Amino acid sequence: MNDKPWVVTVDGPAGAGKSTLARLLAAKLGYLYLDTGAMYRAVAWAALQRGIGPEDDEAVAKLLHDLEVSLVPGKDGRCRVQVDGKDVTAQLRSPEVTRTVPLFAQIPAVREALMGWQRSWGERGGVVVDGRDMGTHVFPWAQRKFFVTASPQERARRRFRQLRRQGFAVTFDQVLREVLERDHQDETRALAPLEAASDAIWVDTTGVKVQETIRRMWSYFPRHVPRGAVGGRRP
Ligand code: C5P
Repeated sequence: MNDKPWVVTVDGPAGAGKSTLARLLAAKLGYLYLDTGAMYRAVAWAALQRGIGPEDDEAVAKLLHDLEVSLVPGKDGRCRVQVDGKDVTAQLRSPEVTRTVPLFAQIPAVREALMGWQRSWGERGGVVVDGRDMGTHVFPWAQRKFFVTASPQERARRRFRQLRRQGFAVTFDQVLREVLERDHQDETRALAPLEAASDAIWVDTTGVKVQETIRRMWSYFPRHVPRGAVGGRRP
C-alpha cells in the first residue's frame, strides 16, 4: 500500500466554515493546513499598501516578483502570514482587503504565481488546503475533495460576528451584501472560478455543529489513511 500522505482539498464560498474544518481535519491527520485565501489576501494587502491597483498589470507583476509571503503554522494550527518578514495576519481580514482581493485573484499572473507555490507544498502530500479552486485546478489529483457550503444568511452571520469581534464597525446587511458580491465575483471570473469538482463531496454546514460536520467528513477517510508528520515543515 502506498503510504504517502494525502492531499485533501476543502473548497467553497466565503464564510462556509472551510478554514475551521480544514484546520481540524489537518490536526486529526497530522497534516499541514494551508490557507490559500490568506495568500491572495497577502497579495491584495501588499498592493493596497503600495498604492497599486488591480488594473496595473506591470506593477502587479513587479510586486509578485519582489514580494516574500510566508505562511507560518501557529500553535493553534491557524496559518500566520508574514509579508517581507512582518506578521500581517490581523490586517488581512479588514473589510478593505476583503473587498479588493477578488479583483487581484482574477489576474492570471497572480493565480499562476500562487498556484506554483501551492503545488510546491502539495507535492510531498500531507496537506489540507482550503480555497476556491483547490480540487478543480491546483490539486485535481487530490485523494479527498470537499465542497463546503452554507446558506448566504448563515455565512454572512458568521462573518459579521467575526468582524465585530475583531473590532470592525460593520452592519449585518453590509456583510451580507459583500458576501453575495464576493461569491458572484469568485463564481463568474474567467480563470479558475469557484465551483465544485465533479468528484467533490458536498458538505452543507447550515445549522450543523462543527464537530458533527467533522465526524461526517471523517467518515470519508479509510481507517488506515496515511498520517503525516508536520513537525519541522513550514509553508
Ligand atoms: O478564503 P478567503 O475568504 O480568505 O479568500 C479570499 C479571496 O481570495 C476569495 O474571495 C477569492 O477571491 C480569493 N481566493 C481564490 N482562490 C483561492 C483562495 C482564495 O481566488 N484558492
